[in-house]
Amino acid sequence: MERYRQIFENNKKWVESKLIHDPDYFLRLSAGQSPDFLYIGCADSRVPANEIMGLEPGEVFVHRNVANLVVNTDLNVHSVIEYAVEHLKVKHVIVCGHYGCGGVNAAMSSRDLGLLNPWLREIRDVFRIHRNELMAIEDEQERAKRLVELNVQEQCVRVIKTAVVQKRYLKEGYPKVHGWVFDLHDGLLKDLHIPFEQILEGIREIYRLEV
Ligand code: CO
Repeated sequence: MERYRQIFENNKKWVESKLIHDPDYFLRLSAGQSPDFLYIGCADSRVPANEIMGLEPGEVFVHRNVANLVVNTDLNVHSVIEYAVEHLKVKHVIVCGHYGCGGVNAAMSSRDLGLLNPWLREIRDVFRIHRNELMAIEDEQERAKRLVELNVQEQCVRVIKTAVVQKRYLKEGYPKVHGWVFDLHDGLLKDLHIPFEQILEGIREIYRLEV
């Protein structure tokens, strides 16, 4: 209970620290938001989006779930994407994975995790698509790391496939989609510089919508 109550003490201190620097801080915060970034990341408690990006409240729209998935039928993530791209007009959509991801590791094992099974199957599908590359990596940890990266890549492709992203990109050249990985060992963010042009070459016709 002590730890629980501490939260409200922390919160009051946080409010004070904001007001010291800017008495109008919450006046501005309550006026509205126009973040440049949509961040889709893992729910893992060790990967706090704002903090690792060095961004303040109001600067990044955040969606997190187990293993940073963009499941095609997930109304939750697609509502977030729709709202961020169409209404908030974010300029960048980031899918951020992290090495040592429990979700990715679980997908690599054959343990029965109940309700999590269909969710993790999405990652197993990523494994299947990139099976040759992954099976060529002998070291299990290195293979898991590469799966984290390829999972980010596939989720980025799913973002690009959405109508809302295609439409706005065609009109305005935005949003740009980026794949990142966060490394818990050194705290650094890595831009994977995913070659989307190359990846989408050949499959563009499949996902292209009339806009
Ligand atoms: Co994770």
